Amino acid sequence: MSQCIGQCQWESNNLNSTMANSQADFTMNLLRINGINSSTILSPISIFIALAMAYLGAKENTAAEIRNTIAKGIFEEEIHPYFSSFLNYSKSYENIRLKSVNRIYFQNNLKIQQRYFDEMKKYYNNEFEQIDFRQPSDAAKKINKFVAKSTNDRFLNFMSPSAINSNTSMISINAIYFKADWENIFWATFEADFYSSPKKITKVQMMSQDTRLYLEYFETDEYEIIGLPYKEREATMYIILPKERFGLQKVMNGMDLSELQKSLAAQQHWTNVNVKLPQFQIKSSFNLVKTLQTLGIKDAFNENANFSGISKEEKIKLSNIVHKTFIKIDENGCEAAAFTGVLFHWTSGIHPPPKSFTVDHPFLFIIADKKFNFLFAGTFFG
Ligand SMILES: *[C@@H]1O[C@H](CO)[C@@H](O)[C@H](O)[C@H]1NC(C)=O
Ligand SMILES: *[C@@H]1O[C@H](CO)[C@@H](O)[C@H](O)[C@H]1NC(C)=O
Ligand SMILES: *[C@@H]1O[C@H](CO)[C@@H](O)[C@H](O)[C@H]1NC(C)=O
Repeated sequence: MSQCIGQCQWESNNLNSTMANSQADFTMNLLRINGINSSTILSPISIFIALAMAYLGAKENTAAEIRNTIAKGIFEEEIHPYFSSFLNYSKSYENIRLKSVNRIYFQNNLKIQQRYFDEMKKYYNNEFEQIDFRQPSDAAKKINKFVAKSTNDRFLNFMSPSAINSNTSMISINAIYFKADWENIFWATFEADFYSSPKKITKVQMMSQDTRLYLEYFETDEYEIIGLPYKEREATMYIILPKERFGLQKVMNGMDLSELQKSLAAQQHWTNVNVKLPQFQIKSSFNLVKTLQTLGIKDAFNENANFSGISKEEKIKLSNIVHKTFIKIDENGCEAAAFTGVLFHWTSGIHPPPKSFTVDHPFLFIIADKKFNFLFAGTFFG
């Protein structure tokens, strides 16, 4: 894309370019593997943090493979401070709630390296808790209680006891919770057709904003994109809508998300838009082992795994990576408070008609914070 040629401001917009590129590529790869045919929601930043915590204790090829997947081209000494600063500033938002907590549960006879304890505490604010995995249902109960609390009861049975057995030595968890109101409330909802596939039309509750909004907008030959801001623009939901009704797969296969991200960060394209967006709710559950193996993380899961940075005495490997996600989008976000939206009106004279942006066929969406960390990303097929 050419939007960023010339006065490109994305460096000054706090975009850590390499880390952001790396997240963008990873996100797109995850979505291509998991979300190209059906509605999906995942949290790239949560997966990144979970992997970075494993990386902190990985050595040799095990470390190299994780690093090439999540932080290619990034200086070694920048990786953990990057996530540390994400965790720090995520607490400082005033108008959106973004909560990310980490915890490690470990079998009481696993000897963890002091250095791993210290660095996990330093960078990831991580708490460690001893647990007895030989009592799977007690262990699962404990973990589920923590996850439920960290995600406002969104996940009540995160961990099934059957996922735990006498071979389990450690479970590392990152939970993320996000709640935000739209900057501009949607006023009306009505039933409408959503063109899920050439053979299927789904009924959706379409939300509309009867005021023309001045939004981040731009288009390419293949798709249009708008940015719907949350309160005070502390985060934004980007909707990428193919111009061809059933063109999402083609768009996703051809998309260079890191280029797109640079254009978005430059924030140079604003247009008067009339938006119609369906309400939706998606729950996804993944076992990411196969996906991560496909993306190049192999040794971590097999007998060659070297996590001697976590434990020198015992040989451990990753056995499972569970990722569960949930998203609900409605006209408010959540609370029906008064909205002080920044609405730009035309004052007088002749003006061009607003662009109409009707989201009535499969699309891609991304929720990014101000520094372009990809909090959530997904696809919706109705
Ligand atoms: C794991 O990596 C450490 C640090 O490089 C090395 O000393 C150790 O021999 C490796 N262990 C195995 C089993 O390869
Ligand atoms: C994050 O906050 C912790 C605790 O306040 C601090 O020790 C750490 O240096 C901060 N990390 C960064 C990268 O600012
Ligand atoms: C534990 O691991 C061993 C060695 O890989 C395997 O033979 C055994 O079946 C595993 N036990 C369980 C409960 O999965």
